[in-house]
Amino acid sequence: MGRAAAGRVARLDFGVADVYLATHPDHVQHILLDNAANFLREGTYWRPLSRLFGRSIMSEGSDWKLSRKTLQPVLTRRYVHSMADQMAAAINESLDGLAEHARTGRPVAAMAELSDIVSHTVIRVFFGNKITPADAARLTPAFETVVKAIAFRFLLPFLPFSVPVPGDRALRRAIRLFDEVLYPLIREQRWRDDEVRDFFSVLCRAHEPDGAEVSDRWVRDNLFAMFATGTETTIGALTWLWPLLDDHPEVTRRLYEEIDTVVGSGPVRAEHLSGLTYTRQIVQELLRLYPAGWVFPRRAVESTTLGDVTIKAGESVLVSPFLTHRLEAFWERPLEFDPDRFDPALGGEPGHHRYAYVPFGAGPHKCIGLHVFNMEAELIIAGILARFRPTSCTAVSRIPRVGATLRPKESVELVLTTV
Ligand code: HEM
Repeated sequence: MGRAAAGRVARLDFGVADVYLATHPDHVQHILLDNAANFLREGTYWRPLSRLFGRSIMSEGSDWKLSRKTLQPVLTRRYVHSMADQMAAAINESLDGLAEHARTGRPVAAMAELSDIVSHTVIRVFFGNKITPADAARLTPAFETVVKAIAFRFLLPFLPFSVPVPGDRALRRAIRLFDEVLYPLIREQRWRDDEVRDFFSVLCRAHEPDGAEVSDRWVRDNLFAMFATGTETTIGALTWLWPLLDDHPEVTRRLYEEIDTVVGSGPVRAEHLSGLTYTRQIVQELLRLYPAGWVFPRRAVESTTLGDVTIKAGESVLVSPFLTHRLEAFWERPLEFDPDRFDPALGGEPGHHRYAYVPFGAGPHKCIGLHVFNMEAELIIAGILARFRPTSCTAVSRIPRVGATLRPKESVELVLTTV
């Protein structure tokens, strides 16, 4: 199929509320970038997320704008890289806990371990270590509850909130726990007059455009949003690495060779990052096949056309990096895991179109945490492999479990051998 005909806009008939699915890179560009003002994060399909994330950076309009402006300075490439030593130290601390598993030979659940590593790192580096280890130990499982509960609402967005679904009560309890931990810290932080640059400090110091202080609720919504987006996506993406490595011994051999040469027997440090070029390619290819933000909705403000389809005002459109990344017209052997596609020596766009590869979205809502993810992913992979050689001990199908993000259906269990 030619590139023009590939990825035609599809109308999905869900009976209750129709929605269009846009996958062609031209349409992705049209919706997310060129006509972003006409495609807002609203409508039936965004509703479950908007209820969860409130007035935060995951919203639209003035609340989003102020949130983005406030958080941007602590998420630039430069600032994030200035935190690389701290990030490496936090990751190495977490990895110490894995040594005991390697000694006993007991299998570990990849997702649970990654969840501990990522939450510890994000709290330590970006939440200024203000959340105590005891509270972090409560928040991590609470957030797991949120992820499971929201999956129902995400898949049945047109269901009124008054209709209960499994997990509703657990969700309310989990959200209460976040409030119990976050609000006292916000109130305490308000009295501090310091120059510290972490999420708490920058959000508490922010002002509305008219000079008024921001509300505790706005700060809380943003802290929750940053915890959610900063952990769930990274954990989900990195869990896919292990089954993929199992299937591709040659990729694994080259990865081990790079880690042995660049990091040696560890611990991983900031200065290793520049040498981790093949690791970076693996992460890029991982996100091509399993982009954690696999689908995200928009609502058309005014009627418009997308290709040969008319989208009426008020109708919803889904953008799906998962499907765009698998279009045969743009990707050779799209289902194959091949990190060499991202070899920088090849130059050009690996998907033959700038918007054929959009794991972090595009336009005004483009992922603000992409530098955090890229650095964290490379440090975690290199940190683990410099110390341990994991082998899978369970069969994992390559079909994801569908929810707000992509996770493997089965638990990925690993046995670790010390290098
Ligand atoms: C595997 C890693 C990640 C992937 C695949 C990913 C993907 C995405 C995508 C597709 C969007 C756009 C959503 C939209 O247009 O509606 C987005 C937005 C966002 N991401 Fe990420 N993300 C990742 C990691 C992170 C991390 C580590 C953080 C925080 C440290 C983060 C924070 C955010 C935030 C706050 C937004 C909303 C930005 C805005 O609307 O202005 N993400 N992400």
